Amino acid sequence: MRLNNKIAIITGAANGIGYAAAERFIEEGAFVVIADFNEDAGVLAAQHLGDQALFVQVDVADRESVKNLVATVIEQMGRVDILVNNAGITRDAMLTKMTEDQFHQVLDVNLTGVFHCTQEVIPHMVAAGGGKIINTSSVSGVYGNVGQTNYAATKAAIIGMTKTWAKELGRKGINVNAVAPGFTETDMVKKMPENVLAQMRSIVPLQRLGTPRDIANAYLFLASDEASYVHGHTLHVDGAIMM
Ligand code: CAA
Ligand code: NAI
Repeated sequence: MRLNNKIAIITGAANGIGYAAAERFIEEGAFVVIADFNEDAGVLAAQHLGDQALFVQVDVADRESVKNLVATVIEQMGRVDILVNNAGITRDAMLTKMTEDQFHQVLDVNLTGVFHCTQEVIPHMVAAGGGKIINTSSVSGVYGNVGQTNYAATKAAIIGMTKTWAKELGRKGINVNAVAPGFTETDMVKKMPENVLAQMRSIVPLQRLGTPRDIANAYLFLASDEASYVHGHTLHVDGAIMM
């Protein structure tokens, strides 16, 4: 049991990669807070995951909502050992067609949301003497991707924030790392035109998309004590799509 009795908040855990991570963390002994915007999916996810899961609705883009999430967890569980900043959205469009709304919606969730959640959780981790922060970047943030000006900007920024927080928080006993998934079988990629997805799949040396569990296993490693000396790192879990 690599996460025995650990309390983890996973944002965006009602679906996709976050849900797989919740499942994986619970298998390893953690109690997981499913922190998601989607109430129906969140309630269902917590039901499927059982006694070791609690759903708390949150909009990570909204500071007050994040304050409420963290207050609820501290009140009910007493501490937060692990935060996985996994919630994310796409609003894809070519640069020339991207609207202000599309640009800002993605920044609000994927970038400001990560800032909000981390800033609210950190005082509790510092008081407890340590913790683990895991941020979700993307292959798009590392190499760029057609149609993703907004999204790629946020996912590149995640890497910069991860390195900055590693420098600021290391001496407080807090490990900070990122995972950069490649194209992974979730609702997010289902919105892509099939021909673009097929092209992406064909250039992966492993010749397949990632599964949510592939990414969840990387989160698990970084959340475990096995990764105690891994710090400020971005772990690429992408089948070497852009090697
Ligand atoms: N590479 C090179 N050229 C591309 C391209 C690509 N991947 N995708 C589109 N183009 C080209 C088209 O061939 C077209 O060229 P011409 O003008 O010469 O004909 C031009 O770009 C415009 O393409 P569309 O006609 O498709 O334009 P559109 O406005 O209808 O749609 C789009 C543009 C919304 C970006 C659409 O192509 C799309 O959704 N693409 C997928 C974007 C994508 O990869 N998203 C990833 C989502 S999953 C995710 O984000 C997870 C993660 O972290 C990886
Ligand atoms: P998904 O769309 O399956 O799940 C995202 C979850 O986030 C949903 O449950 C949604 O309700 C929740 N969410 C959205 N906005 C929110 C908000 N404002 N507050 C709280 N929760 C919110 O997506 P997927 O694929 O599981 O993505 C998880 C993370 O992995 C995202 O950060 C994404 O950018 C990243 N990623 C995904 C890849 C993929 O190919 N699927 C590749 C690389 C990175």
